Amino acid sequence: MVKFAVIAGNASKDLGKRIARKLKAPYVEAKTRVFPDGESKITFGRIQKNSIILVVQSTYPPVDTNLLQALSIISQARKVSSKIYAIIPYMGYARQDRQFLSGEVVTMSIVARMLKSAGAQKIVVVDIHSKIALNHFKIPKENISAIPELAKYFKRMKLKDALVVSPDMGGALRAKKFASLIDTDFIALKKSRNRNTGKVVIQSSKVDVRGKDLILVDDIISTGGSIVKATQFLKKQKCKRVFVACTHGLFVEGAEKKIKNAGVSRIISTNTIPRNTSKVDISGVIADSIR
Ligand code: R5P
Repeated sequence: MVKFAVIAGNASKDLGKRIARKLKAPYVEAKTRVFPDGESKITFGRIQKNSIILVVQSTYPPVDTNLLQALSIISQARKVSSKIYAIIPYMGYARQDRQFLSGEVVTMSIVARMLKSAGAQKIVVVDIHSKIALNHFKIPKENISAIPELAKYFKRMKLKDALVVSPDMGGALRAKKFASLIDTDFIALKKSRNRNTGKVVIQSSKVDVRGKDLILVDDIISTGGSIVKATQFLKKQKCKRVFVACTHGLFVEGAEKKIKNAGVSRIISTNTIPRNTSKVDISGVIADSIR
């Protein structure tokens, strides 16, 4: 029988413990001290020999600190086991997966190389921003979808006359999958973002949402700009309530408040990033994918 051991970095302790429980694997505590200058010092105890070590650490803000902690744990764990799986439920830098403007550094590719050279033999992510981002990893990889778990949550809400909405065309397939899981329809809005200023504009003209309860589904909420613009647009089209479902709730720059102020009734995210909105636990799907 394969033996697993789980070590979680500072960013994903609760999730790491949950995964360990699901796998009936020992959870190895990694004590982390962050010095006043921002450097991290990590210490962890003994790990049973011949275990596959699962290093769990999402790389949300402080992104680079959390990333370096993940690299440090992987590198140390590699000294006691030849099998290390890096479980990075929220993979930061995945939106920097290609050159959008000339001269831009494709940082996702650098992160992928760093995780491999630290000693990760396999990478497990949840709803990574794009397939292109995933392709930068030249090791076995698995991208788990949190959409079925999010959909289950909304199914329990028993909304009448619900419609799933993607705030952009890039998320149309995600919205389609979500809608099919809760037996309803979906639409995708047209959104554009200024690559220099980051400003978001909804370009769709008219959509038929009058009187409907809408579920806006996205992979990441960062500044909330996309969701706020989409909500304002949909409210003008006389929809009923707007709910939001996302896998990764970063919520930077007061995003949660801005979204609520735009009139969203409820925001639900997963625990890839621990937030008040993290009502959906994805430890089970991660554990299932590893067993
Ligand atoms: C964009 O393609 C992503 O799917 C998200 O819509 C985007 O990253 C959200 O960012 P923000 O909350 O800053 O608009």
